[in-house]
Amino acid sequence: MTEAGVDQPEACRFDDLVPEPHELFDGTATKEAFVEIGENFVAHYLIGRCRLEPTHAVLDIGSGNGQKARPLTRYLSPQGRYAGFDIVKAGIDWCHQRYASWPNFQFDFQELRSDWYNPEGRSAAQEFVFPYGDESFDVVFMSSVATHMLPEELEHYLRESHRVMKRGGRFFATLFLMSDEALGASAHLRIQDREFQRIAANLWTIDPERPSRGVAYREAFARSLVARAGLRVAEITFGMWSGADVVGALQDTILAVKPIQAPEGSTGNPALGNTSRRQRSGCLQPRWWTWPRRWRRGTWQVDDPDHGAGG
Ligand SMILES: C[S@@+](CC[C@H](N)C(=O)[O-])C[C@H]1O[C@@H](n2cnc3c(N)ncnc32)[C@H](O)[C@@H]1O
Repeated sequence: MTEAGVDQPEACRFDDLVPEPHELFDGTATKEAFVEIGENFVAHYLIGRCRLEPTHAVLDIGSGNGQKARPLTRYLSPQGRYAGFDIVKAGIDWCHQRYASWPNFQFDFQELRSDWYNPEGRSAAQEFVFPYGDESFDVVFMSSVATHMLPEELEHYLRESHRVMKRGGRFFATLFLMSDEALGASAHLRIQDREFQRIAANLWTIDPERPSRGVAYREAFARSLVARAGLRVAEITFGMWSGADVVGALQDTILAVKPIQAPEGSTGNPALGNTSRRQRSGCLQPRWWTWPRRWRRGTWQVDDPDHGAGG
């Protein structure tokens, strides 16, 4: 309480940004997992793959308990900016209180419907206009959120992401992709001991009663949604959930770029350096490619649909 009698949130420190286990709803079960997965995601995916810089503006769609925001408080400079929104009020309220000491961190609650996270939500996610200006973010990401969204919702979120991204900005999502290889290799793809059941041509769920509990998209369809939103897929990686286990992460990932207006005759994208050859190959190689040591130990909960290795 200040002298003026106005309630002020108590100043919080970095160590206060870890919720108690009973407060977690982001797929992690322990404080250690919350910390480790969040830090690895930021180091590997946001800094390593999306080239997030300390002065950048970053949007965290479905920010949950602030798992990714916490390490970003140590990476973003005062000139940098973080915005996150979510449909679970408890998580946003908690973040409002804990992040009061970081004025460049903003969290927004949106009362949107989800048959898994917010069945009573008032508005449809596929009509939600992100409350941010055009071309205002360098990096937009969704960690284990597309795994809970239906196609019309995801398509709309991709278009909104494109709108709020700067030209040359990066979009990154973790999700479950049904590739032809995965479908051919196993008739029983599952997470959390629940088998994926096909409910539409391009969509599978682990719970037909409440599809948003966990969905998987046909890879070609997901690629087409990204392209239709105006983003260019730069890289797709496959996680261990389907047995691919190429990169040591649980979920699959999509990294996409919002094209910039290139000068006539140019094939490169100046925002990403001299990348024309790599873009033609369809695969954007990182400047460095070293998994943090903790990733290699492989201590992740593989049957956790939402996380495991960073997503
Ligand atoms: C598995 S949690 C992941 C949370 C966070 N992204 C992380 O990686 O720690 C999924 C999150 O997506 C949020 N979510 C689900 N549908 C959403 C929507 N339509 N818009 C925004 N967030 C949504 C949920 O409320 C939940 O916080």
